[in-house]
Amino acid sequence: MKIRLKTTTKLSLFLGLFCFVIFMISCKAPEQKAPLADLAQTPPMGWNSWNKFGCDVDENMIKEMADAMVSSGMRDVGYEFIVIDDCWQLSRDSEGNIVEDSEHFPSGIKALADYVHSKGLKFGLYSCAGTKTCQGRPGSKGYEEKDATQYAAWEVDYLKYDWCNTKGVDATQAYTKMRKALEAAGRPIVFSMCEWGRNKPWLWAEGIGHLWRTTADIQDCWDCTRDWGGMGFIKILDLQVGLEEYAGPGHWNDPDMLEVGNQGMSTTEYTAHFSLWCILAAPLMAGNDLRNMSDEIREILTNAEVIAVDQDPLGIQGRKVRDDGDFEVWSKPLADGSRVVVLFNRSSGDTKISVTWQEIELSVQEAVVRDLWKKEDLGQFQSSFSAVVPSHGVVMVKITP
Ligand code: GLA
Repeated sequence: MKIRLKTTTKLSLFLGLFCFVIFMISCKAPEQKAPLADLAQTPPMGWNSWNKFGCDVDENMIKEMADAMVSSGMRDVGYEFIVIDDCWQLSRDSEGNIVEDSEHFPSGIKALADYVHSKGLKFGLYSCAGTKTCQGRPGSKGYEEKDATQYAAWEVDYLKYDWCNTKGVDATQAYTKMRKALEAAGRPIVFSMCEWGRNKPWLWAEGIGHLWRTTADIQDCWDCTRDWGGMGFIKILDLQVGLEEYAGPGHWNDPDMLEVGNQGMSTTEYTAHFSLWCILAAPLMAGNDLRNMSDEIREILTNAEVIAVDQDPLGIQGRKVRDDGDFEVWSKPLADGSRVVVLFNRSSGDTKISVTWQEIELSVQEAVVRDLWKKEDLGQFQSSFSAVVPSHGVVMVKITP
């Protein structure tokens, strides 16, 4: 049946359509923030399974670690992410979806994420830019969108993305691809790049990852080296010199996770390791068993005054201002105009180390010095400060004009 319309009706229909088109053109969609923008404004803090447990991960252990992060007081001083590293994944289904190892994660990843969230914490996973992860589990190469969508559906908040089995892959492209996939998945997920500094990510990764590893894997030792590239605390520390200018809010150099509490170093050495990671504005991912920490280790990991140095809103990575062989002075400016100084003694005997205000660019004469490990004000000092520093240890002070 043919419908005939009057000329006036046609005219009003035309005008109506015209106005609708004009309205749609002029009515801009409200500006949407990219979901990954503005994350990690201070270095991420949390716990990761790798350093202590390697491939030996399961849902009960992860739940207990979330419980311990709360009961130890770590959550209250800023630790928030519980991250399962390699080995949670087993295969892909016929549609290419990533499938968890159901023997070790029988309740599924979503239930575990829910549990972690119920504790007021955030949940992270690990994958790899290659065909397989470093432990031979399925990698994300070719499945970036599928995996990112799955992570968002599971309510993942943090992704560590590794670099094994990437022969012929371009690092910038591979990490950009996953960044875009995460953006498209629509959930704010902190993106932790782990390509071991192979392609100097500090030169190109700002805006792709929120943090990037700068070296091969840390080992739980003072200065050991492994033939595959792993290395101890001071070897990693030395490789951070010169990278300071590349770090800032939302984009951090990552000298790898903490070994504090894993028993390969002394308490004095762990105190130095933690102090220097805080001076470096490094991500603070604990890597020990949180369920049975000694009081000494818990006190290192939860010293709020030292953590505040790491988390300072200026986000300036501290630098080594003096290197007298085994005796070093590191300094970091804070938002309140103060400087935090670490006097670091790498030698085998206790030694007095000093710092002048000039070296740390303080233009005043008099300043108040507070010892951040003793949690004690040491008084007013004129132009310089010195202290006896234990072998392999630090004295960490805040100097306020
Ligand atoms: C690489 C990473 C480590 C860890 C392992 C897991 O070595 O650098 O931090 O994630 O893979 O297999």
